[in-house]
Amino acid sequence: MSYHAQRSVVASNTMPILATTKIPKLTPAKKQSAPQVDALGLKSLPSHTPYGLDRCQIDTPDKIVKGFWKLIKRHRRHLGSVIDLGAGDGRFAIGAKYDEYQGYEIDPERGRRTNLPPNAKLIHKCAFEVEREDFSVCVGNPPYVRHHDIDGAWREELTRRIKKDLGFTLNRLANLFVYFICLAILKTKSDGLIAMLVPYEWVSRPSAKALRDFISSKKWDVHVYRFKDEIFKGVLTTASISIIDKAGTSGAWKFYDIDSDFNVEPKRKMSGSNQAVLNYLRRPEKVWALRGLSPGSQEIFVLTEDERTRFHLKKTKDVRPCVTSLRGVPKTLQRLTPAAFKKHYIDKGNRCWLIRSNARLSISKELRKYLKKIPASKHDNYTCNNRRPWYAFKQHPSPKVLYASGFTSFGPKIVSNDIHAIAVGSVHGIHSDRKQNAQKIVSKLRNVNFERQVVAHAGSLKKVEVGQMNSTLHALFPIAKKKEIPKRP
Ligand SMILES: C[S@@+](CC[C@H](N)C(=O)[O-])C[C@H]1O[C@@H](n2cnc3c(N)ncnc32)[C@H](O)[C@@H]1O
Repeated sequence: MSYHAQRSVVASNTMPILATTKIPKLTPAKKQSAPQVDALGLKSLPSHTPYGLDRCQIDTPDKIVKGFWKLIKRHRRHLGSVIDLGAGDGRFAIGAKYDEYQGYEIDPERGRRTNLPPNAKLIHKCAFEVEREDFSVCVGNPPYVRHHDIDGAWREELTRRIKKDLGFTLNRLANLFVYFICLAILKTKSDGLIAMLVPYEWVSRPSAKALRDFISSKKWDVHVYRFKDEIFKGVLTTASISIIDKAGTSGAWKFYDIDSDFNVEPKRKMSGSNQAVLNYLRRPEKVWALRGLSPGSQEIFVLTEDERTRFHLKKTKDVRPCVTSLRGVPKTLQRLTPAAFKKHYIDKGNRCWLIRSNARLSISKELRKYLKKIPASKHDNYTCNNRRPWYAFKQHPSPKVLYASGFTSFGPKIVSNDIHAIAVGSVHGIHSDRKQNAQKIVSKLRNVNFERQVVAHAGSLKKVEVGQMNSTLHALFPIAKKKEIPKRP
C-alpha cells in the first residue's frame, strides 16, 4: 500500500504542534462489473480498496442538510472556512453562509451539484490527504464502515498516526466514522467547531471510549442531537448530529432528541431517560454473559427439523438444539422446556439444530455427507476461510439462561435454558457457577428496565451489549465478602 507525506498536528487546546507524518493513502474504488448485493441491499466491498466505497455512499436528504445548518447557527454565527469530509456531490455547500467551503470527496465518479456557490469547491481527493489544519468548521456525513470491512494494514497505520498526532490509541474495533471524527479534530483550528452526522452509538460504545476521553480531557463542549426518526432509509443505526465545540471550556456533554423537522428536546442523560447508560464490564466471577456463537453461516450450520431428518442427522450425535432468535416466543415465556422448544422452533420449521462439526469430534458418515454437499461458494467467508477444516468451529458451552440482545421495550426476552440449547448469533447466554439457579437469574433480570439504561440502536430497536449485561449481573449477584474472623487476643 502506498503512503504519502503529510503535515499533521499534535492536537492541543492552544497551539497545534506541527509534525511531518505519513497518512495511508486511499484510492477510489473502481466500479465493479457485477456488484453483489447483501441483505441490507448494499453492494459488496471492492477488494482493492481499504474499504468499499459503494457501502458508504448514503446521501443526506436535502431537508436534513437544511435543518443541519439551522442547528449549526445555534453554535456559530459566523462560519468562516468550512471543510466537508466525504462531501459526495457537495450538498452541504448549499444552505449556509460561509467565507469558503472545501468539500473533499474521494470518488471522482460522484456527481456534483450544479448550484454550488462560487466560494465553494468540491475537490476529488482523499480527505486524509488534506494538508490544511486551520478550518473554522468541519462538517460531514462520513462513511460508516465496520472494522472488519476495513483493510487491517491501512487501519493499523491510521491508528499509529492518531496515536502520534492526538496522543491516544483508538480501539481497533472502531467504525470508520470514528477515524473521520479524529480527522475532523486534526483539520480544525483550536477554537473550531466540528458538526457531523454520525451514528449515535459513538457516545457509549467502548470502541470510541479513547476518543471520548480525549475530548473530555480537552474540556471541549459536546452537544449530541439524536434523531428520533429514521433519516437514512433502511440504515440500521440511530443517527445523530454530533457537535464538538473546541472553543468550549466546560467539558459538558449535552444530549437532545430531535425530529426530522428539527424540533429539539433536551435530555438529561445520554440514554434519553433519567437513568445513566449501563457500564460495560468484563466477565464477572459469579454470573456472566457470553456472546452467542457465530459458527460462520447459520444457513450451513443451523438446520431446520426438516433438513435434519432429510440428511439423517441424529439428535445427540450430529446436532444439538440451539436458539438463534427469540422473536417467535411470547414475552411471558420464562422457561424454554422441551415442549416449548418443539412448539416454537421444531414445529414452526425454524432453524434450531446446530451441527456438531467440531474437528475434535468424530464426525458421522451422515454429517460428512451433508458437509460435502455444501458448495464452496457458500462457505467462502472470513470465519470459514480462517479455520481448518472450514466447518470445524469450537463448541460453546450451553448457558443456564438465554436472552435476545435486541429488544423494543422495557427489556429483552429472557428464558431459562431447560433444554441445554446453544446460544447462537444475537441470542446470548448467561452462565454461572454451580450455585446459581437459572430461574432466579431469569426473575431478577426480568425486573430490570434495560430500556431506560441503553441507547437506541436503530429507531425503536435497542440492544444490550454483552458488557452491559455483565455489569447488570455483577450488580444483581454481588460477590459476598468473606466474614473476617476476629483474631484472638
Ligand atoms: C455517507 S456519504 C455522504 C455524502 C454526502 N456528504 C452526503 O451527506 O450526502 C460519504 C461519502 O464519503 C466519501 N468518502 C469515503 N471515504 C473517503 C475519503 N477517504 N475521503 C473523501 N471522501 C471519502 C464516499 O465516497 C461518500 O461519498
